Amino acid sequence: MAELSGKIAIVTGGSRGIGRAIALRLAASGADVAVCARNAEAAAETATLVAQAGARSLSRSVDVTDAEQVGDLVKEVSDQLGGPDILVNNAGITRDNLLMRMKEEDWDAVLETNLKGAFTCSKAVARPMMKARSGRIISISSVVGIVGNAGQANYAASKAGLIGFSKSLARELASRNITVNVVAPGFVPDTGMTGDLTEAAVEGMMANVPLSRPGTPEEVADAVEFLASDRSAYVTGQVLAVDGGMTM
Ligand SMILES: NC(=O)c1ccc[n+]([C@@H]2O[C@H](COP(=O)([O-])OP(=O)(O)OC[C@H]3O[C@@H](n4cnc5c(N)ncnc54)[C@H](OP(=O)(O)O)[C@@H]3O)[C@@H](O)[C@H]2O)c1
Repeated sequence: MAELSGKIAIVTGGSRGIGRAIALRLAASGADVAVCARNAEAAAETATLVAQAGARSLSRSVDVTDAEQVGDLVKEVSDQLGGPDILVNNAGITRDNLLMRMKEEDWDAVLETNLKGAFTCSKAVARPMMKARSGRIISISSVVGIVGNAGQANYAASKAGLIGFSKSLARELASRNITVNVVAPGFVPDTGMTGDLTEAAVEGMMANVPLSRPGTPEEVADAVEFLASDRSAYVTGQVLAVDGGMTM
């Protein structure tokens, strides 16, 4: 039997890039998967791919900063698929600039999506998971949340915030057998977030990667799959860097 057979997962920002790879990996492992993003058609494309992998799927247009929309999603998932047993907080955005040029709205948008979005979604799934006395909450942070990055103060703050948030939640929910962990990817090109970088910028980044290559969405999905599975039952409050050694 597939490892995640019978489990119901929600992947936020599952419409493309790393989120889509995570949704497909969880489906390949036997989970039924609900994906959300603001763009309904793109989310539906992932749901079709999940269904083609043989899993039940559902997709919705949801803005993770909107608690009501998130609450409706979790209820719908619960009614139609069951669970949820696994939440992957993957939705994220960047609005890069140096501090002196960063607009307040760019600070707010990044913190709202990347950090408040995880709060909203985690809060919505916590009740059914507590009732079930089991669950997995996995948030996608970034190496930037660990070591910082000039020009990304808002993004780094949101991603570092996710780590503190997850460790606190891990302590709160451990008695209910719910684990809460973080995956911190390094540089993963060719997603919506990184597709515009020049070759020179990519080469510059690779100079700081001991394994001398970028990561892939599938390698991030591997880590998420492990943290979603029973194999990680004794792992909670941890940050797993999938970064080619960048932050060792
Ligand atoms: N790529 C990298 O190098 C890298 C490295 C470290 C960490 N990460 C993290 O990995 C995650 C995925 O990144 P990616 O590179 O795959 O980026 P991406 O291709 O831009 O995907 C981002 C996803 O988030 C969704 N999203 C954005 N805002 C949302 C909102 N308010 N509500 C719901 N969904 C929202 C997007 O869909 P809509 O726009 O339709 O809403 C999309 O599905 C992010 O958290 C990112 O910070 C990426």
